[in-house]
Amino acid sequence: MLHTGLDWNALMARSGPAPRASAIRDLLSLTERPDVISFAGGLPAPELFPADGLRAAFDAVLAGDAGGALQYGPTQGHRPLRELVAERLGRRGIACAADDVVITTGSQQALDLVGRVLAGRGMEVLVESPSYVGALQAFSARDVTFVACAGDDRGLRVDLLRRRPDAAFLYTVPTFQNPSGGTMALDRRRELLACSRDLGLPLVEDDPYSDLRYDGEPVPALRALPGGEDVVHLGTFSKVLSPGLRLGWVVAPRPVTERLVLAKQGADLHTDELAQRAVVRFCRDNDLEAHVRTLRAAYRERRDAMLAALADLMPRGSAWTRPEGGMFVWVTLPDGVEALPLLAAAVARRVAFVPGTAFHAGGGGAGSLRLNFTNCPPYRIREGVARLAAAIDRVAA
Ligand SMILES: Cc1ncc(COP(=O)(O)O)c(C=O)c1O
Repeated sequence: MLHTGLDWNALMARSGPAPRASAIRDLLSLTERPDVISFAGGLPAPELFPADGLRAAFDAVLAGDAGGALQYGPTQGHRPLRELVAERLGRRGIACAADDVVITTGSQQALDLVGRVLAGRGMEVLVESPSYVGALQAFSARDVTFVACAGDDRGLRVDLLRRRPDAAFLYTVPTFQNPSGGTMALDRRRELLACSRDLGLPLVEDDPYSDLRYDGEPVPALRALPGGEDVVHLGTFSKVLSPGLRLGWVVAPRPVTERLVLAKQGADLHTDELAQRAVVRFCRDNDLEAHVRTLRAAYRERRDAMLAALADLMPRGSAWTRPEGGMFVWVTLPDGVEALPLLAAAVARRVAFVPGTAFHAGGGGAGSLRLNFTNCPPYRIREGVARLAAAIDRVAA
């Protein structure tokens, strides 16, 4: 390392605590070797990216209006894309107009911006237990105090939330949650909206996975339910099109969108204009919903392959969730087996996962782990679960 004259660590400490490192990102670098079967990242299947359609869309945009596509754009986002998002959400019962939508650089940026406009230093942020690690990372930059809220098989225990009237907001992934795969039941959603109204508690609904339902009946988004018009609703093209495009959105009440736009101006002026226009063009020339149906069929097969392999191969004492959609299965290990030491044994057998501790703001989760099933073909999934089961046997022995 090059010697430098300034004590950078001390200088940076003046701005506040260092951000939490993401266990997922560190792991992904470890598992990039092709011989490792990685269940670690939340990655879509790369062979299903609609690359030809996107290439044609980018070409058409540049051929048609390169001056506009390569120029600075509006902070709130390209209007035709906001209209497209509003129209798509409308089909799911989420009534909104283009002016209610802010396009963000992935929904990860939306999490950061929402944290900035709703949470002040030291305020409580209510999260599920376990919760999406990227959200914990984004909100922790605000120096907030996380309060992990317990749930049961119907979702968050709303009765417990009522004890936290002063929290900045509740963050929830109610449909096919990352990491648990669980979905909040309809009656619990209604109860949550009533609680939000009674306490004046803002709800932040992060909804990247609803389109990826493999069986069971759709449950309306919180934002789509009566009384849901105050919900701050986040979505993304990452799981239905491509995460590399970095296109997400927030739908929120007007005072919130105005503040989000100001915060975004300071962050990046606007989201990639070329990518926004290319997605509008892609959706005009292709049937996005047909593409989503293709993804659903492929991912259903992968989920089923993972559930079958777990049932056939996992040692006695293990348990796991059976998600109706999304990308993840949450595994509880046999008594006495912890996921962190297991990871070393698993990587030695060329399989990877994310230990449950990464998803717990206030500690816990040592005996659990998250498995992604969308990034591997079914035969690799079975082989990966076999390697994982062998690693558990080794650690438990
Ligand atoms: C619950 C949740 N929110 C947000 C994100 C971030 O997605 P994006 O690619 O839109 O930034 C993810 C990605 O895995 C996620 O699982």
